[in-house]
Amino acid sequence: MRHLITPQDFTVEELEQLFDLADDIRLHPDTYAHACDGRKMATCFYEPSTRTRLSHESAMLGLGGQVMGFSEASSSSAAKGESVADTARVISCYADIMVIRHPKEGAATVASHFASIPVINAGDGGHEHPTQTLTDLLTIRNLKGSLNNFTIGLCGDLKFGRTVHSLINALVRYENVRFVFISPPELCVPDYITEMLQEKGIPYEEHIKIEDVIGRLDLLYMTRIQKERFFNEEDYVRLKDFYILDAEKMKLAPKDMYVLHPLPRVNEISVDVDDDPRAAYFRQVQFGVYVRMALILTLLKSAGRLPE
Ligand code: CP
Repeated sequence: MRHLITPQDFTVEELEQLFDLADDIRLHPDTYAHACDGRKMATCFYEPSTRTRLSHESAMLGLGGQVMGFSEASSSSAAKGESVADTARVISCYADIMVIRHPKEGAATVASHFASIPVINAGDGGHEHPTQTLTDLLTIRNLKGSLNNFTIGLCGDLKFGRTVHSLINALVRYENVRFVFISPPELCVPDYITEMLQEKGIPYEEHIKIEDVIGRLDLLYMTRIQKERFFNEEDYVRLKDFYILDAEKMKLAPKDMYVLHPLPRVNEISVDVDDDPRAAYFRQVQFGVYVRMALILTLLKSAGRLPE
């Protein structure tokens, strides 16, 4: 039985199979409309979410399965002190697959050790967000035709941004991907990531201003300055509008440079960018449903809860 805790739980070859399946689902949704008839998915969210919870639920419903769950810790028995381990054991009695988002790093790993059903990590603190990464990779593969040979700028909160950490960890397994990190010094990418890039001999640059680098990017991955990860309000207020990508800055970008964002956005992408054909963040949301459909099918088969 397999889980998805980090993107590295799947080899590059397995990811290709997953993305091929996601593309097939996108093109032939009716073929898969009853693939999960009789199967149930539990979404256990101890942190707020719109996309990750509802896209998993949309994916399961699109496969003919059923969904249940809770959307905040206060409406679960976590409020009475129940551990993640016990909750995972209990959910295993109700559902065929479990999706968990939790503010503590490592919570999904703990759940996977105690569950007897596949566990999907929907974000654990500032650590990893693997289904967002699957979404990002499928989007890039469809927009650019390949996951090799491009320069990607990652902008915003690179310190606490779990989507950024997971995406970098996934992209280092592909050929000739160059990283340009754009952040205020206080929110720069953690040392363990730059050390990993140095060890692997993968090129990266660190910059503060978008304008200095946007002209030579193939992809620009914007992220939100995350209020919930700051220890004090003062630092958040100082940094929250550090980046605003607008139509003026987009004039400096190549004609084929796509803008991605895991969303939600606050102010970091002006709405005047939304109609630019290079703004791909809402297409990215739609790819997220297809890749989660492919993931649910793959994990349920691995657990013997669907026929091969
Ligand atoms: N991208 C993402 O994780 O969005 P939500 O927090 O709305 O799930």
